[in-house]
Amino acid sequence: MGKGMRVLLGVSGGIAAYKIPYLVRGLVKAHHEVRVVLTRHAREFVTPLTLETLSGFPVLTSLFEIHGSSMPHIEEPFRADLMVIAPATANIIGKIANGIADDLLSTMVLALDAPLLVVPAMNTRMYRHPAVQANLEILRKRGVHLLEPGTGELACGEEGPGRMAEVEEILRVLENLGLLKGPLRGKKLLVTAGPTVEPVDPVRVLTNRSSGKMGYAVAAEALRQGAEVMLISGPTCLPPPEGVDFVAVETAWEMQEAAEKHFPRYDVLIMTAAVGDYRVETPAKEKMKKGEASLTLHLVENPDILKSLAGRKRPDQFLVGFAAETGSLREKACRKFTAKGVDLLVANDVTEEGAGFGSDMNRVLILDRTGKVEETGLLPKSEIARRILGRIVDEAFPP
Ligand SMILES: Cc1cc2nc3c(=O)[nH]c(=O)nc-3n(C[C@H](O)[C@H](O)[C@H](O)COP(=O)(O)O)c2cc1C
Repeated sequence: MGKGMRVLLGVSGGIAAYKIPYLVRGLVKAHHEVRVVLTRHAREFVTPLTLETLSGFPVLTSLFEIHGSSMPHIEEPFRADLMVIAPATANIIGKIANGIADDLLSTMVLALDAPLLVVPAMNTRMYRHPAVQANLEILRKRGVHLLEPGTGELACGEEGPGRMAEVEEILRVLENLGLLKGPLRGKKLLVTAGPTVEPVDPVRVLTNRSSGKMGYAVAAEALRQGAEVMLISGPTCLPPPEGVDFVAVETAWEMQEAAEKHFPRYDVLIMTAAVGDYRVETPAKEKMKKGEASLTLHLVENPDILKSLAGRKRPDQFLVGFAAETGSLREKACRKFTAKGVDLLVANDVTEEGAGFGSDMNRVLILDRTGKVEETGLLPKSEIARRILGRIVDEAFPP
């Protein structure tokens, strides 16, 4: 089960704002994450405290309430899967139709890169005004989803169109437009993550510095986008994301066995795990005693899981490999892409300060079959995960 979408909910200063707590509750109940933005005038109709309590997140009200380096007017619309403005006043409709950005909500709309549903609500005469109708037409032409107001008695006592659609209808329309469905709903993703651990003797191991953070971020984001996810992981300090089908392994052989066993049932395999290239040929049965001035361990090569699975891949399956390199990243990544037979390769330089192993940030190159190389810049791993999954959706499941 997916964990739901990130909904940015803008509330402007109309009387129908009193119904919005029910909309927040409906979305949260359906496991969506709701971030509420109130205009200054909306606060006259509904309190931030109510919406904060129901959404579980601080309500955003001011453009200039900045904490540290965060800039919510850009970051929130960037993170959102969709935005809803309800009720949408004549004023906010006019502002977004004309690109005006003079408060937090209107500024966020300009920074939005996701679908937008506008739910107008106003007095009938205001609604029929040619200026409002012209602004609505601009939004329609721009591809904004509009949920026309209903006809009936309005709060001001007049009759006619202008009444905000009921909360149930807003939820139904979001559902019908497919806006609440994650792009990976119905898809099965297998993710490997973390390091592998090879025994030297009963107390010592050979391993690597992988923290598992990148793979766990991919698994969490895939779940959120509606996918069914299995995570095969080497030992890490991270809790498995809630809802994931979790398989714990230690050695490269165990990881290979688990990946080969489950791969046939999955649409996509994303191999973020840092699989050790070598293992000790014959681990000692008992703890090796200290005494010699030097010690030689005889290492043998581990299986190349990525290559082996690329060889078994059906045409309907999609394979994503990861390459952790040190220096000459682009060159090494291109070589690895050709050698491994993957559909997408994500490469990072693990020596970069503040990125890669153990860090919450990463900077990667994404290589595809057409030879295109996308450079992400330094981003949180959750955002890198979103970029990678976006590419998988585009390439493995085109509309
Ligand atoms: C009691 C009351 C109810 C209002 N209801 C609406 C409404 O339903 N729709 C609307 O467009 N404006 C309504 N307004 C006017 C808006 O609040 C006003 O145009 C304001 O500038 C909107 O600001 P905002 O879009 O930034 O929230 C109402 C004003 C008052 C005093």
